[in-house]
Amino acid sequence: MKLFTVGPVACYPIVLKTMSQQMYSHRSDEYKKIHYDTVDLLKKWLETENSIYLFSSTGTGFMEAAVRNCVKDKLLVCINGDFGKRFAEVGKSNGKQVEILEPALGDPITPQGLDDALKKNPQVEAVAITHNETSVGLINPLRELCLIAKKHGKLIFVDAVSSMGGTEILVDDWGIDICFSSSQKCFGVPPGLGIGSVSKKCLQIAEKMPNRGYYFDLTLWEKDHQRGQGTPVTSVIPQIASLNAVLHMVEEKGGKKWYFDLFNRRNTKIRRAVKKLGTPVYPKRGYESPTVNCIKAPKGVPGKKIYDEMRLKGYELAQGYGALKDVTYRIGNMGYIPSLSLTSMLEALKEVYASI
Ligand SMILES: Cc1ncc(COP(=O)(O)O)c(C=O)c1O
Repeated sequence: MKLFTVGPVACYPIVLKTMSQQMYSHRSDEYKKIHYDTVDLLKKWLETENSIYLFSSTGTGFMEAAVRNCVKDKLLVCINGDFGKRFAEVGKSNGKQVEILEPALGDPITPQGLDDALKKNPQVEAVAITHNETSVGLINPLRELCLIAKKHGKLIFVDAVSSMGGTEILVDDWGIDICFSSSQKCFGVPPGLGIGSVSKKCLQIAEKMPNRGYYFDLTLWEKDHQRGQGTPVTSVIPQIASLNAVLHMVEEKGGKKWYFDLFNRRNTKIRRAVKKLGTPVYPKRGYESPTVNCIKAPKGVPGKKIYDEMRLKGYELAQGYGALKDVTYRIGNMGYIPSLSLTSMLEALKEVYASI
């Protein structure tokens, strides 16, 4: 099966090779070397001086860490779909008050909308933004939203699970306090690793935060990061070694710009082909994701039908998600996608459209 999923995605050959290596201790010199090299490469990628932690959890662990360590009472969550809703749930289930900014489905969070919401809710301590809403295939204007949140003096938490690696995020320049992702998306590594940067301001707040728990206590992660230990818990060594291999592969091929261009080239091809088939992508024009295409199924055809027919031809796309489950299907543009597979997948899609 050729994967055009939205995560977990197909892994690079170098990742499959790395994953098959014998284990070593997460306290060994071999591990520490790989850990800190990966951290340095990620710092360079995100252009940040903030600490980078490699959680032995998926990206959602960083949602929990952000609200438990850095929010005493209240946060504002921007919602464009199911993953924004999850951030709000994480806040509520940790006993925080959650204000919501939720435009119509398919519309982005606008700077004006965020400005108004923060004027209405001046007491929120932080703003949570899903950079790329995977369920809708929508990308928010993150840089502009960060400018507004900073103008109001708020902490900024960014769920970059399906954007980190696939498009530019400048953590320090844009003033992002916590920016996190998961290994199984743009970097083409198996699931299990949460990747996130955390600002000094967050660490200072965390020091004084009661009930911040243990597993995601950022002060523990910082202590072990600073003393050269890497992580306070057992690290997901195969995923970290694989991420390290992918980051080096990208460096050798021309760096992150080369990688972003690859995403753009592939997605332009997908978009053009889908447009020719007469079915538009879901979000408002100008906010279409570079990593996930959420496509309206042809009139009267359930999205699952396209998904099922493509599976029969050997291609695993993704079904619609949440509110759009029945009326859309999704084509992922992340991880290992050889160019010939992309061409043949688009041919197969044309045949499926002709047959329904
Ligand atoms: C935007 C977004 N946020 C959060 C998540 C949850 O990530 P994880 O399952 O790695 O915790 C996903 C997973 O698809 C996602 O796409």
